[in-house]
Amino acid sequence: MIITCPHCKKEHNIDEKRIPPNVKMARCQGCGQQFPLDIPREETPPPPQPQPAPVEMVPDPNPDSAPRSDQETRRIGVSLSKGGVGKTTTSVNLAAGLALAGKRVLLVDTDTQGQSSFMLGVKPKGGLTELVTGELPPEEAIVQARKNLWILAGGKSLAGLKRLIDRKDYGGELTIAQALTPLEKDYDYVVVDTSPGWDPLTVNVLFYVNELMTPVSLEVMSIQGFGEFLKSIASIQKFRKEVELRYILPTFRDMRVKRGSEFLEEIEKIYGEKVCAPIRYNVRLSEAPAYGQTIFEFAPGSNGAQDYRDLVRKVTGEPDLFT
Ligand SMILES: Nc1ncnc2c1ncn2[C@@H]1O[C@H](COP(=O)(O)OP(=O)(O)O)[C@@H](O)[C@H]1O
Ligand SMILES: [Mg+2]
Repeated sequence: MIITCPHCKKEHNIDEKRIPPNVKMARCQGCGQQFPLDIPREETPPPPQPQPAPVEMVPDPNPDSAPRSDQETRRIGVSLSKGGVGKTTTSVNLAAGLALAGKRVLLVDTDTQGQSSFMLGVKPKGGLTELVTGELPPEEAIVQARKNLWILAGGKSLAGLKRLIDRKDYGGELTIAQALTPLEKDYDYVVVDTSPGWDPLTVNVLFYVNELMTPVSLEVMSIQGFGEFLKSIASIQKFRKEVELRYILPTFRDMRVKRGSEFLEEIEKIYGEKVCAPIRYNVRLSEAPAYGQTIFEFAPGSNGAQDYRDLVRKVTGEPDLFT
């Protein structure tokens, strides 16, 4: 059938039978813009079956790791905030805390800086890019970093993945979802770290995760700035209703700064339960990465460790964890 780009009016001849039903957007090769795909589907082809993952796909050198629970895998994206507000610190320590609580966790790094693996002190030979391109099989792309904690690393090679996504005529925004969905059943939680701002990888993450955790720095955030990124969520929810802003995580809490407290009160009034107990400013959190350690290893008694334990309790809904 012929579809016409609403932006530049270029006509594209596509074979609609080859387009999976979950693909809702196309990118015009003429003008590069995206537009919704509206394909009549009398004879809806069966949805593509995820490749069944062999049981030995992710080898577990720790036989005493917690067994995978029966519950559905939770996919949490740490996203939609500016750089330097604690996204990576939160992704790594939330993932590590969940693992300590006995959950099986996959941490996915979608930032070209590749800091998550650095913070955990591991040097994988590949990661998300190699998984998507098939250069590495899942059991090599995913590396076990701790008991119950695995990582799919990011880093510079993600630039190649971005290009690959850009070149796709349709369904580019589902690239990461298609790579991760067949693997996720081995985990209780998939935690995805993102880069600041909007890029094809962030959009991909928003088409994969169901829950968003948004760190907001109490040092720099204002109500106006917060409103900006709520608009970003709304724009994604137009295409994908399943993605929900679940947690607002105030970071860099400094009791001495009054403006931070006022902002905190404001967002609590509006967002109630979604607002997590703040992560305090804690220098130990900024020191731990240089040692390749999580806050629970580096300074288990610190405010940083306490605050991230609190976050794990909130996310799991298990208030008695770590007591
Ligand atoms: N609560 C905190 N207290 C002190 N330093 C922090 C805290 N959270 C993060 N940092 C430090 O701030 C810097 C930015 O944090 P990071 O997690 O990399 O942010 P992002 O991923 O949003 O860019 C890092 O050097 C990190 O170690
Ligand atoms: Mg980061």
